[in-house]
Amino acid sequence: MSCTDIKKLEIDTPSCRSVIDCGEGAFEELMPQLLAGKQFFVVTDSNVHAIYKELFGGIFAGGGLYVLPAGEKSKNYTQLMRILKAMAAFGLKRCDTVVAFGGGVVGDIAGLAASLYMRGVHLIQVPTTLLSQVDSSVGGKTAIDFCGIKNIVGTFYQPERVVVDPAFLKTLPAREIRCGLGEIIKYGALNRDIYIKLIENKNRLKSAEFFRSVIYDCIAHKADVVKKDERESGLRKTLNLGHTTGHAFEMFYKRKSHGEFVLIGMYYELFIAVERGICAPEYAQSLVELIKKVITVPAYDDAGEASLLADDDKKNVHSGEVAMILPESPGRVRELRLKLEEYSLYMARCAQSLKDEDR
Ligand SMILES: NC(=O)c1ccc[n+]([C@@H]2O[C@H](COP(=O)([O-])OP(=O)(O)OC[C@H]3O[C@@H](n4cnc5c(N)ncnc54)[C@H](O)[C@@H]3O)[C@@H](O)[C@H]2O)c1
Repeated sequence: MSCTDIKKLEIDTPSCRSVIDCGEGAFEELMPQLLAGKQFFVVTDSNVHAIYKELFGGIFAGGGLYVLPAGEKSKNYTQLMRILKAMAAFGLKRCDTVVAFGGGVVGDIAGLAASLYMRGVHLIQVPTTLLSQVDSSVGGKTAIDFCGIKNIVGTFYQPERVVVDPAFLKTLPAREIRCGLGEIIKYGALNRDIYIKLIENKNRLKSAEFFRSVIYDCIAHKADVVKKDERESGLRKTLNLGHTTGHAFEMFYKRKSHGEFVLIGMYYELFIAVERGICAPEYAQSLVELIKKVITVPAYDDAGEASLLADDDKKNVHSGEVAMILPESPGRVRELRLKLEEYSLYMARCAQSLKDEDR
């Protein structure tokens, strides 16, 4: 693999320039150069650490290390404090680098730690899940969950480098591929070219050859949005498509993972989009078909009650109304705000329509 197969993107924002390299072999090609002569500290999780053990005696040798227990439960205050303590014990300095090596959980908490430690140290994201490669490693949002609320404590902190190497996806379990496809289908609802690619390949969404081929497209879409609106005052909100309901259900039901809840959220919100005449039924159906290729959407008995947790997601709530981004037509979306009670009724009706379908 040569450098020419690695595509580069840059996000220039008022706070920082973030350089993203994407391509098979990017990790082995670039990481040794990026770490040469530097003191660095790697944050990873227990699964990634076990699978890629040899890297800690190789490319990552000589660096500090903190291994989080794998899973969303680790995105918490206690683990954040333990990471910061380990960084201090290692003697990390302001000019040193934190490497977030793992999925979105590692990326979010290590990014937050890097932004807090000595008021900010250098940060390199090395995403190892499909979801983190297409979405969470890019754009500089960091977070932990707190008081039972997802991502409520966090910062905007751009990684100086993001090294996206699809080779890491070879060891990823099928379920995690489905989670990444959740975010990829979200991009399909935001970007016409990605939508067309998804529709043309709808029977092979889970094939490695296919999903690897759209990673760069998704990153390019996100990079373009972040360049225009780093702090989510407008355009960046579109990236939350499916997330209003997805996060509410994630907080209520917990058992599934983030990407799966994004798809479920998209499905439930599409119901609203069609009912309100925002989205043509045929277009909505084509998105539903993509969603159903990846997961079975649950007909939750208590969807109305679960959706009330959208009220806890402060970024979605504006003077008592819940905001969500809904697909209109390929490449076009719009924001809709609904009273919490009305939104909750739609959610209950959507669950009922799923039950009726199953009869
Ligand atoms: N910051 C953002 O902009 C942003 C955007 C979207 C999602 N997120 C966050 O991302 C998180 C979800 O990320 P995720 O889906 O990557 O979850 P994750 O980090 O929990 O990873 C999923 C699982 O895959 C394992 N894993 C990681 N890489 C692997 C590999 N190469 N081979 C085998 N197993 C591997 C992990 O150990 C874990 O068990 C959520 O907390 C969500 O809130 C953040």
